[in-house]
Amino acid sequence: MKLRALFILPLAVVLLSACSQGRNEAASYRHAIFHVIAWHFGTLGAMAKGEQPFDQATFEKKANILAELSTLPWEGFQPDSAEGSDAKPAIWENRADFDSKAETFQNEARTLARLAGEGDQQAMFSQVGEVGKACKACHQEYRKD
Ligand code: HEC
Repeated sequence: MKLRALFILPLAVVLLSACSQGRNEAASYRHAIFHVIAWHFGTLGAMAKGEQPFDQATFEKKANILAELSTLPWEGFQPDSAEGSDAKPAIWENRADFDSKAETFQNEARTLARLAGEGDQQAMFSQVGEVGKACKACHQEYRKD
Protein backbone atom coordinates (compact mmCIF):
# COMPACT_ATOMS: atom_id res chain seq x y z
CA MET A 1 0.00 0.00 0.00
CA LYS A 2 2.74 2.42 1.01
CA LEU A 3 4.75 1.43 -2.01
CA ARG A 4 1.83 2.08 -4.33
CA ALA A 5 1.28 5.55 -2.85
CA LEU A 6 4.92 6.34 -3.43
CA PHE A 7 4.47 5.39 -7.05
CA ILE A 8 1.16 7.16 -7.61
CA LEU A 9 2.13 10.50 -6.08
CA PRO A 10 4.88 11.42 -8.56
CA LEU A 11 2.67 10.19 -11.38
CA ALA A 12 -0.11 12.55 -10.27
CA VAL A 13 2.37 15.42 -10.15
CA VAL A 14 3.52 14.64 -13.67
CA LEU A 15 -0.07 14.43 -14.94
CA LEU A 16 -1.02 17.69 -13.23
CA SER A 17 1.89 19.59 -14.70
CA ALA A 18 1.07 18.14 -18.12
CA CYS A 19 -2.48 19.48 -17.75
CA SER A 20 -1.41 22.95 -16.72
CA GLN A 21 0.98 22.98 -19.65
CA GLY A 22 -1.94 22.14 -21.88
CA ARG A 23 -3.87 25.08 -20.48
CA ASN A 24 -0.94 27.39 -21.22
CA GLU A 25 -0.42 26.09 -24.74
CA ALA A 26 -1.69 29.41 -26.16
CA ALA A 27 0.83 31.33 -24.04
CA SER A 28 3.65 28.98 -25.14
CA TYR A 29 2.65 29.56 -28.74
CA ARG A 30 2.76 33.36 -28.51
CA HIS A 31 6.00 33.31 -26.51
CA ALA A 32 7.66 31.18 -29.19
CA ILE A 33 6.56 33.56 -31.96
CA PHE A 34 7.67 36.67 -30.03
CA HIS A 35 11.10 35.13 -29.51
CA VAL A 36 11.49 34.48 -33.24
CA ILE A 37 10.29 38.03 -33.93
CA ALA A 38 12.84 39.45 -31.47
CA TRP A 39 15.62 37.38 -33.06
CA HIS A 40 15.07 38.78 -36.55
CA PHE A 41 14.18 42.28 -35.40
CA GLY A 42 17.38 42.28 -33.32
CA THR A 43 19.51 41.98 -36.48
CA LEU A 44 17.53 44.74 -38.23
CA GLY A 45 17.93 47.01 -35.21
CA ALA A 46 21.66 46.29 -34.94
CA MET A 47 22.14 47.17 -38.63
CA ALA A 48 20.08 50.35 -38.28
CA LYS A 49 22.17 51.44 -35.28
CA GLY A 50 25.45 50.60 -37.01
CA GLU A 51 26.22 47.90 -34.45
CA GLN A 52 26.39 45.33 -37.22
CA PRO A 53 27.63 45.86 -40.81
CA PHE A 54 24.77 46.56 -43.21
CA ASP A 55 24.02 43.84 -45.71
CA GLN A 56 21.17 44.50 -48.15
CA ALA A 57 20.30 40.83 -48.78
CA THR A 58 20.18 39.96 -45.07
CA PHE A 59 18.19 43.09 -44.24
CA GLU A 60 15.65 42.41 -46.97
CA LYS A 61 15.31 38.74 -46.01
CA LYS A 62 14.74 39.54 -42.33
CA ALA A 63 12.35 42.39 -43.05
CA ASN A 64 10.24 39.97 -45.12
CA ILE A 65 10.37 37.33 -42.38
CA LEU A 66 9.30 39.96 -39.83
CA ALA A 67 6.35 41.04 -41.98
CA GLU A 68 5.16 37.41 -42.10
CA LEU A 69 5.77 36.80 -38.39
CA SER A 70 3.92 39.98 -37.43
CA THR A 71 0.66 38.29 -38.43
CA LEU A 72 1.17 35.27 -36.14
CA PRO A 73 1.10 36.01 -32.39
CA TRP A 74 -2.48 37.26 -32.16
CA GLU A 75 -4.34 33.97 -32.39
CA GLY A 76 -2.35 32.94 -29.30
CA PHE A 77 -4.17 35.56 -27.19
CA GLN A 78 -7.08 33.27 -26.45
CA PRO A 79 -9.56 33.87 -23.64
CA ASP A 80 -8.42 32.72 -20.19
CA SER A 81 -4.80 32.38 -21.23
CA ALA A 82 -3.36 35.30 -19.22
CA GLU A 83 -2.58 33.30 -16.09
CA GLY A 84 1.08 32.57 -15.51
CA SER A 85 2.16 34.78 -18.40
CA ASP A 86 3.19 38.42 -18.82
CA ALA A 87 0.01 39.24 -20.75
CA LYS A 88 -2.09 41.75 -18.82
CA PRO A 89 -5.79 40.94 -18.39
CA ALA A 90 -6.41 44.42 -19.92
CA ILE A 91 -5.86 42.77 -23.33
CA TRP A 92 -9.18 40.99 -23.03
CA GLU A 93 -10.92 44.05 -21.53
CA ASN A 94 -9.76 46.38 -24.34
CA ARG A 95 -9.53 43.88 -27.14
CA ALA A 96 -10.29 46.41 -29.90
CA ASP A 97 -7.44 48.65 -28.77
CA PHE A 98 -5.07 45.69 -28.46
CA ASP A 99 -6.04 44.50 -31.95
CA SER A 100 -5.47 47.97 -33.36
CA LYS A 101 -1.98 48.08 -31.82
CA ALA A 102 -1.31 44.67 -33.37
CA GLU A 103 -2.58 46.03 -36.71
CA THR A 104 -0.30 49.09 -36.49
CA PHE A 105 2.68 46.81 -35.86
CA GLN A 106 1.77 44.63 -38.87
CA ASN A 107 1.45 47.73 -41.09
CA GLU A 108 4.82 49.10 -39.93
CA ALA A 109 6.45 45.69 -40.53
CA ARG A 110 4.94 45.48 -44.03
CA THR A 111 6.19 49.01 -44.78
CA LEU A 112 9.66 47.96 -43.63
CA ALA A 113 9.60 44.97 -46.01
CA ARG A 114 8.51 47.23 -48.90
CA LEU A 115 11.22 49.81 -48.16
CA ALA A 116 13.83 47.05 -47.88
CA GLY A 117 12.86 45.94 -51.39
CA GLU A 118 13.36 49.52 -52.63
CA GLY A 119 16.82 49.70 -51.05
CA ASP A 120 16.89 53.29 -49.69
CA GLN A 121 19.03 52.71 -46.63
CA GLN A 122 18.03 55.87 -44.76
CA ALA A 123 14.32 55.11 -45.20
CA MET A 124 14.85 51.50 -44.10
CA PHE A 125 16.73 52.51 -40.96
CA SER A 126 14.17 55.09 -39.88
CA GLN A 127 11.36 52.58 -40.49
CA VAL A 128 13.10 50.14 -38.09
CA GLY A 129 12.48 52.87 -35.49
CA GLU A 130 8.78 52.97 -36.38
CA VAL A 131 8.49 49.20 -35.96
CA GLY A 132 10.27 49.44 -32.61
CA LYS A 133 7.79 52.12 -31.48
CA ALA A 134 4.92 49.79 -32.38
CA CYS A 135 6.42 47.01 -30.19
CA LYS A 136 6.87 49.46 -27.33
CA ALA A 137 3.41 51.02 -27.62
CA CYS A 138 1.82 47.62 -27.08
CA HIS A 139 4.23 46.40 -24.39
CA GLN A 140 3.68 49.57 -22.33
CA GLU A 141 -0.03 48.91 -22.12
CA TYR A 142 -0.39 45.16 -22.29
CA ARG A 143 2.79 43.43 -21.14
CA LYS A 144 3.77 43.12 -17.48
CA ASP A 145 7.18 44.67 -16.62
C1 HEC B 1 -0.11 44.29 -30.01
C2 HEC B 1 0.77 43.98 -28.93
C3 HEC B 1 2.21 43.63 -29.12
C4 HEC B 1 3.08 44.00 -30.12
C5 HEC B 1 2.83 44.90 -31.31
C6 HEC B 1 4.34 43.37 -29.82
N1 HEC B 1 4.24 42.64 -28.66
FE1 HEC B 1 5.72 41.59 -27.76
N2 HEC B 1 4.42 40.97 -26.34
C7 HEC B 1 3.12 41.39 -26.20
C8 HEC B 1 2.54 40.80 -25.01
C9 HEC B 1 1.13 41.02 -24.51
C10 HEC B 1 3.53 40.00 -24.44
C11 HEC B 1 3.41 39.11 -23.20
C12 HEC B 1 2.90 37.75 -23.69
C13 HEC B 1 2.81 36.70 -22.62
O1 HEC B 1 3.58 36.72 -21.62
O2 HEC B 1 1.98 35.81 -22.80
C14 HEC B 1 4.71 40.12 -25.30
C15 HEC B 1 5.90 39.44 -25.09
C16 HEC B 1 7.04 39.60 -25.85
C17 HEC B 1 8.28 38.91 -25.60
C18 HEC B 1 8.56 37.93 -24.47
C19 HEC B 1 8.01 36.56 -24.79
C20 HEC B 1 8.14 35.61 -23.60
O3 HEC B 1 8.55 34.47 -23.77
O4 HEC B 1 7.80 36.01 -22.46
C21 HEC B 1 9.17 39.34 -26.55
C22 HEC B 1 10.61 38.90 -26.73
C23 HEC B 1 8.46 40.30 -27.39
N3 HEC B 1 7.17 40.42 -26.94
C24 HEC B 1 9.02 40.97 -28.44
C25 HEC B 1 8.34 41.84 -29.28
C26 HEC B 1 8.96 42.59 -30.37
C27 HEC B 1 10.44 42.57 -30.70
C28 HEC B 1 7.96 43.28 -30.97
C29 HEC B 1 8.05 44.17 -32.16
C30 HEC B 1 8.98 43.85 -33.23
C31 HEC B 1 6.72 42.98 -30.26
N4 HEC B 1 7.00 42.11 -29.23
C32 HEC B 1 5.48 43.51 -30.59
C33 HEC B 1 2.46 42.23 -27.03
C34 HEC B 1 2.96 42.78 -28.20
